[in-house]
Amino acid sequence: MFETLSALAPDPILGLSAAFKQDPNPNKIDLGVGVYKDELGKTPILDSVAKAQEILLASETSKVYITPQGNQGFINGMLDLLLGEDASALSDKRVAAVQAPGGCGALRILAELLMRVNPNTKVWVSDPTWANHIPLLGDAGLALHTYPYFDKETASIKFDEMMECLSKASADDVVLLHGCCHNPTGADLTKEQWQEVAALAQKVGFLPFVDIAYQGFGDGIQEDAYGLRLLVDSLDEVIVAASCSKNFGLYRERVGLAAIVCKNESTKNIAQSQIQSVARGIYSMPPSYGGALVDIILNNTELTALWTREVDDMRNRMSELRAMLVSNLQKQGADKDFSFINSQKGMFSFLCIPPEQVQQLRKDYAVYFVDSSRVNIAGINHNNVEALAQAIAKTL
Ligand code: LMR
Repeated sequence: MFETLSALAPDPILGLSAAFKQDPNPNKIDLGVGVYKDELGKTPILDSVAKAQEILLASETSKVYITPQGNQGFINGMLDLLLGEDASALSDKRVAAVQAPGGCGALRILAELLMRVNPNTKVWVSDPTWANHIPLLGDAGLALHTYPYFDKETASIKFDEMMECLSKASADDVVLLHGCCHNPTGADLTKEQWQEVAALAQKVGFLPFVDIAYQGFGDGIQEDAYGLRLLVDSLDEVIVAASCSKNFGLYRERVGLAAIVCKNESTKNIAQSQIQSVARGIYSMPPSYGGALVDIILNNTELTALWTREVDDMRNRMSELRAMLVSNLQKQGADKDFSFINSQKGMFSFLCIPPEQVQQLRKDYAVYFVDSSRVNIAGINHNNVEALAQAIAKTL
């Protein structure tokens, strides 16, 4: 039966990790998949997570199923983190939510829910967007369209073009927005630009779909939720996919949240039953372990404080690495001004170089990053930055 299918090219991001592992070059540099790495190139278990694991091990008494909705302590903690403890949408009880298997799981079940609402739903995604948005949303059957977002020539957001395009969207359309730390470009909307997007959503009536996978890696845990909170405060309906992979370092545990902000409590009850039935139809219920850890951290003052410090440390380190890369590129006499990297946010930046140069860097210097020229800033360290800058400068 399966010979009728054809083998596919490796995934543009995960395929790089496999190629990197196979490369025998001892000086190889991995700036591919978006995982945080420390100075030694390791992705550590956060101390807050290690402590939560001890608490969970001592208190867990059963491995019986959890519900399709997931762990309620996790859901409540995450909604406070995302929307703010004082969010009126929460006190008005108009937010439906389920724990999901990672941010990917959240994106997919929300896509399936949108298909139930209307199988002809059009979703607008930024050009460029995270490569996996396309299969996660498109394979559910949604029609994807792009809005202008990033100009590689000037390394800045094409905000006017974006607004012009979205002003022509229809009230039935959905617009996918990156809550913070835009993946792949690292170029985020300013507060004023978020206000304009919220006003446009109000005027046109499109549904904002916020993907927030890097909360805390941009300007701060609260600061990074600015755009999402503004939309939720200004509109009747917003949908949200959140990930705990990066800011809790829980990548392999698959922890995320899908939330649907509704107009009122009775619509919330409909949305809640529908999203649970979507989850039941795909995977029944989410894995328990990672959500239980986040529940413990977010509902324990000391652990929340420890986790906050750890997120702050990761963010500050990545911002130092940005500055270090830019100054090393200058020192190596790179024939391009890379100072824009300093103003970008989170884990990624676009080097804004052509794919041929990215491939040449891989071949000649064993420097691995995505063909789009997206680099994982957290893969840089004091030991590799000089060689990296030299390789880039020579390749330009
Ligand atoms: C990335 O963008 O590299 C990460 O979100 C990992 C992934 O699944 O692509």
